[in-house]
Amino acid sequence: MSEQREPVGVIGVGWVGLVTAACFAELGHPVVARDILAEKVAALSRGEVTIHEPGLEEMLRRNAERIAFTTDMSELLAGARLLFVCVDTPPTYSGDADLSRVRAVVEELPEGSDHVLIMKSTVPAGTGEAIRRDLPGLSYVSCPEFLKEGTAVEDFMHPDRVVIGADPGDEDAAAAVADLYEPLGEILHTDVSSAEMIKLASNAFLATKISFINEIANVCEEVGADVGEVARGMGLDERIGSSFLRAGIGYGGSCFPKDVTALKMLAGNTGYHFQLLTAVIEVNELQKRRVVGKLRAHLGSLLGKRIALLGLAFKPDTDDMREASSLVLAARLQGEGAEVVAFDPVASERAGELLEGVELTGSAMAALDGADAVVLVTEWREFAELDWADAANRMERALVVDGRNFLDPAALAAAGFEYEGIGRSASDRRISASSVARVQSTPRSLRP
Ligand SMILES: NC(=O)c1ccc[n+]([C@@H]2O[C@H](COP(=O)([O-])OP(=O)(O)OC[C@H]3O[C@@H](n4cnc5c(N)ncnc54)[C@H](O)[C@@H]3O)[C@@H](O)[C@H]2O)c1
Repeated sequence: MSEQREPVGVIGVGWVGLVTAACFAELGHPVVARDILAEKVAALSRGEVTIHEPGLEEMLRRNAERIAFTTDMSELLAGARLLFVCVDTPPTYSGDADLSRVRAVVEELPEGSDHVLIMKSTVPAGTGEAIRRDLPGLSYVSCPEFLKEGTAVEDFMHPDRVVIGADPGDEDAAAAVADLYEPLGEILHTDVSSAEMIKLASNAFLATKISFINEIANVCEEVGADVGEVARGMGLDERIGSSFLRAGIGYGGSCFPKDVTALKMLAGNTGYHFQLLTAVIEVNELQKRRVVGKLRAHLGSLLGKRIALLGLAFKPDTDDMREASSLVLAARLQGEGAEVVAFDPVASERAGELLEGVELTGSAMAALDGADAVVLVTEWREFAELDWADAANRMERALVVDGRNFLDPAALAAAGFEYEGIGRSASDRRISASSVARVQSTPRSLRP
């Protein structure tokens, strides 16, 4: 018989918390997971999974007997000594991270508690130090989370690195956390502030890479180069690496936008002006809007034009709509007087709460019916497999703006589409030279 593993407590059962709970249960630990939302806790206790994340539902089902969901803090405190804080840290109006939920958790801890608070939520450097100042007896460990939505379970179980930050006096607490992660991968031990900075700096660097390649894409359009080729050539240099060099319509999601801004503000609060991040943020905002210019170049005024958006979630394989590029795009298109129709394989319900005046359809094809153009916003695999020739016939005008450089321009041209990617002007030029594209891109109403 296997020995009883160390129980794990999880506070906040959202994307990070639920994956953390499921994965530690998978590793054999009894888990008590606490959230303040009674409805969410009730749903999870009934076995209903509240988010779309590949592999999560099966993992939760497999380990249902090891995980208890509760709203009750005392049940959590009685059930586990090691408490992972996974509450949300959204931006405030100032752009700083809102730490009110973290503070609420700290305030609920009884004085003299022998629990270990393990911070998984992304917090500004200095947060751990402040919490330890307020609760001098508390054991505190920073353990930032690096999982990506869409591959969260896989990322948790096979992390590139595990960062454990602890300050003098908390060596035993750090060792207890390291024991939990020992089966998973390489552990980097640091002090608390450095661990907090590693998380923010990592996200800011990835966002910078995205904005950089997006600017390169925009220049490629001016000079007739293909950003895909450029990125491939750059990525072969191992000092650069090939990941996060995909040009598109900008990053979104619950992490990059807020974490980049939070780091910029954190620096600003100390009197340091982080100029690079100001540019990263601005490039990202403008990149989403470039789609409107591309549509106008083909359609002229967008007033009364029916524009279909394929994909609404901020990335594929998730139903997370936080800071999704689709939100800005839909609003901008509506601002231009366009009629916006949209489809997402899993995010429609969440999107419906946020996208006022946007018609949501039950299938991709239904969104394309009678549309003057389609914008691919999220690269769901099923969109590559769509019957694009059929789509061309259904649309008023077979025009596609591929916001993720995801579709095959030649196949789209063969299907009768005018194709616009992001920084793919060289491939666009090759296509427009083909007679197929020229004949078939004629608006349907003008076709024989
Ligand atoms: N989502 C990601 O991909 C990701 C990746 C790495 C790090 N992070 C960071 O992890 C943290 C959590 O992110 P998320 O996306 O899981 O957030 P989320 O909004 O999906 O979940 C947060 C949960 O915490 C609950 N909560 C709030 N206050 C609480 C309290 N006092 N007690 C118990 N529960 C409480 C909320 O009800 C919610 O269910 C954030 O700091 C985020 O930046 C997120």
